[in-house]
Amino acid sequence: LKLGIIYGTKRKKATVEVIEWLMEACKKSGIEVEVGKPEEVSDLDHDAFVVGSSIYAGQAQSDLLEFVEQNRETLTSKPVATFVVCKEVECPEDNMAQILERLGSEPISQLFVEGYMIRRGNFDRQRVKVEDWVKDLISKLS
Ligand SMILES: Cc1cc2nc3c(=O)[nH]c(=O)nc-3n(C[C@H](O)[C@H](O)[C@H](O)COP(=O)(O)O)c2cc1C
Repeated sequence: LKLGIIYGTKRKKATVEVIEWLMEACKKSGIEVEVGKPEEVSDLDHDAFVVGSSIYAGQAQSDLLEFVEQNRETLTSKPVATFVVCKEVECPEDNMAQILERLGSEPISQLFVEGYMIRRGNFDRQRVKVEDWVKDLISKLS
C-alpha cells in the first residue's frame, strides 16, 4: 500500500508537525508514504490519498484547494481521506467543506486537528488523536 499525502500550509508549525506524526504513524504500520505540498508532488501513482490544509482567515490554503480541484478524478479514483488544522472548535466542518467541495465526493475518513496561533501549548495532546486516526484509516484501507 502506497499512500500519498498532499498538504497546504504557510508556516512551519502545527500542520507540518501533523504531517510528521502522520508519516511516523504510517511507517510504524508498515505503510509506504510519500508526502508533499502541491508543487512538490511529481506523480499521483498511489493506492490511497490524504489531502489536508491549515485554515487562515476562514480559508483553506488556495494551492491545496486548486490541487484537489485539478486532480479530482485521479484522487477520487482511489480512497481519499481529508484533514484540516484550525482553531475553530465549534464548527470545523465549515472549513473542511472547502476541501470536500473541490473533491466532489465523500472521503473515507476526516480528521480535525486543533492547531495553535503562536504558543504550542498542549498541542502534543493532538498526537494521540492523529495516531489513532491513522490506525483507523489503515484498517479501512486494508
Ligand atoms: C493568520 C492566521 C489566521 C487564522 N485564521 C483562522 C480562522 O479563520 N479559523 C480558524 O479556525 N483558525 C484560524 N487560524 C488558526 C490556525 O488554523 C492555526 O494557527 C493552525 O495551527 C495553522 O496551521 P499552521 O500552524 O500549520 O500554520 C489562523 C491562524 C493564523 C496564523
